[in-house]
Amino acid sequence: STPITITRKHPLAECENCPLYEDSIFVPSYGPEQADVVLVGEAPARNEAREGKPFIGASGQLLDQILPSSGVRRADVFITNVCLCRPKDNSNPPAAAVKACKTRLLEEINSRKPRVVVALGNFASQTILDTSVGITKLRVGPPKRSPLLGDEVSVIPTFHPGATLYNSNSFPDIVTDFGKIKGALHGTEVTSVWSPPELRIFDDRDGAETVLRELLNSSRLQEVGIDIEVGLDKDEDLGRPDQYHLLCIGVSHRVGGAFILGENSLR
Ligand code: URA
Repeated sequence: STPITITRKHPLAECENCPLYEDSIFVPSYGPEQADVVLVGEAPARNEAREGKPFIGASGQLLDQILPSSGVRRADVFITNVCLCRPKDNSNPPAAAVKACKTRLLEEINSRKPRVVVALGNFASQTILDTSVGITKLRVGPPKRSPLLGDEVSVIPTFHPGATLYNSNSFPDIVTDFGKIKGALHGTEVTSVWSPPELRIFDDRDGAETVLRELLNSSRLQEVGIDIEVGLDKDEDLGRPDQYHLLCIGVSHRVGGAFILGENSLR
């Protein structure tokens, strides 16, 4: 019988061994031929599959918020994923898919001659550092060396930015970790540390009036950000938030400062 031949989506990807080969969308890596900094994600998500470019959806927008703290411009960074095909329904990439795409991943990284590789999340960090240690432990401390990359390459494992969409507690840690890029590139200590915003909490009528007065007198009202919490599970379809029980409203009125209005002050 004739052997079945398939066309590889990338010459170095062993697509013939990959469970994602059929019916999944291939999203190539993106960025310059030479890059001091390489970012490695997990796999393309829905928006990436639609546009054909990595990290342009919600996770990518978060990256754009975080990158400035590292002093690196997105245009100078090479961006790739552990798997270049999108797993169905945003599921985790199967181990066989990670394995099939690994030679491709390492070659794409090495050929950029990076000095720093930022591994976003468990899949990227464990694949690049060749370990089964979880990201929560792995990210702590200075940049690491990888047995799979050159000795001169600093690997910075951190949480996947997408994780902060579900658990905002990881955001300060990601900012801290991106701050390590500067240190690795310039031989200096970590300079970027996230500092918590100043929060003022009000939960009575006077408090509500104070907040309104300060906001109305503010000259920077166009920069206000608002976060409304209602008694509704995040996974449910939001519909109209005013149909639900209001819990609190956060108002960010300046960089590093926010008001929180509790139920009573809202009432
Ligand atoms: N998440 C990833 O890991 N990679 C992308 O390209 C987009 C979202």
